[in-house]
Amino acid sequence: MKVLFLGDIVGRAGRDAVTDQLPGLVERHGIDFVAINGENAAGGFGITEDIFQLIIDAGADCVTTGNHVWDQKEALVFAERQDRFLRPVNFPPSTPGRGAGMFIAKNGAQVLVINVMGQLFMPDLDDPFAAVERQLESCRLGRDCDAILVDMHAEATSEKQVMGDILDGLVTMVVGTHTHVPTADHRILPGGTGYISDIGMCGDYDSIIGMDKEEPRHRAVNKIRSGRLTPAQGSGTLSGVIVESDEATGLARTIASLRIGPHLQSSEPDIAQ
Ligand SMILES: [Fe+2]
Ligand SMILES: [Fe+2]
Repeated sequence: MKVLFLGDIVGRAGRDAVTDQLPGLVERHGIDFVAINGENAAGGFGITEDIFQLIIDAGADCVTTGNHVWDQKEALVFAERQDRFLRPVNFPPSTPGRGAGMFIAKNGAQVLVINVMGQLFMPDLDDPFAAVERQLESCRLGRDCDAILVDMHAEATSEKQVMGDILDGLVTMVVGTHTHVPTADHRILPGGTGYISDIGMCGDYDSIIGMDKEEPRHRAVNKIRSGRLTPAQGSGTLSGVIVESDEATGLARTIASLRIGPHLQSSEPDIAQ
């Protein structure tokens, strides 16, 4: 089966890129399951229920998040009723919503998605490795489900690589999100797990990680905040990976990076065996 995972949607540019391009992309590549990180979809900060629904209506089967999950307070409420909405699994047990979910793909396959957040240079959540292992105890790949996707929302590439190494052979794919900058290290790990340190963002790349450049430049140069960060408003570029998995084992056969839009060099998809 084929899984598409797209990186953090940032503001209107990212939303428009997803709604304009996702349906055609799913059709052209015969995608069976789509997951998208939506943590910056509402004005760069968080996600509303209407925007969540827009992303689902465009073709996403599951929306993951990260440290910005609660920036729009309504997420604390709709996280409870929207099964396709995930927040990091290693929040304390009392936190609203869920960090993992089992979904049925277009081809009928059972897909477990786990959203987890790293600890290095990030808000202080519970141990991400133990949290993912707990989820896997009740769901073994190839026996209890056909694919397992892990969104490792983290700053440090080292911590993401450790997650990939620990889960190698146990899950279909581990994708990094959060930095909004795609990395070129997509590969199949020795045990058969598709891996990339960061799948980048869906948004305007003529920006500083999706935001209009002026305020980040001012903050960096002068060490003073002079206003709010607002998403850059130019054309959006989609960024993510397509992983093709083996029907019998659930492990990855190929991983391809996908970048469609005006700013990044490659287009669709660049296959790495
Ligand atoms: Fe983000
Ligand atoms: Fe983030």
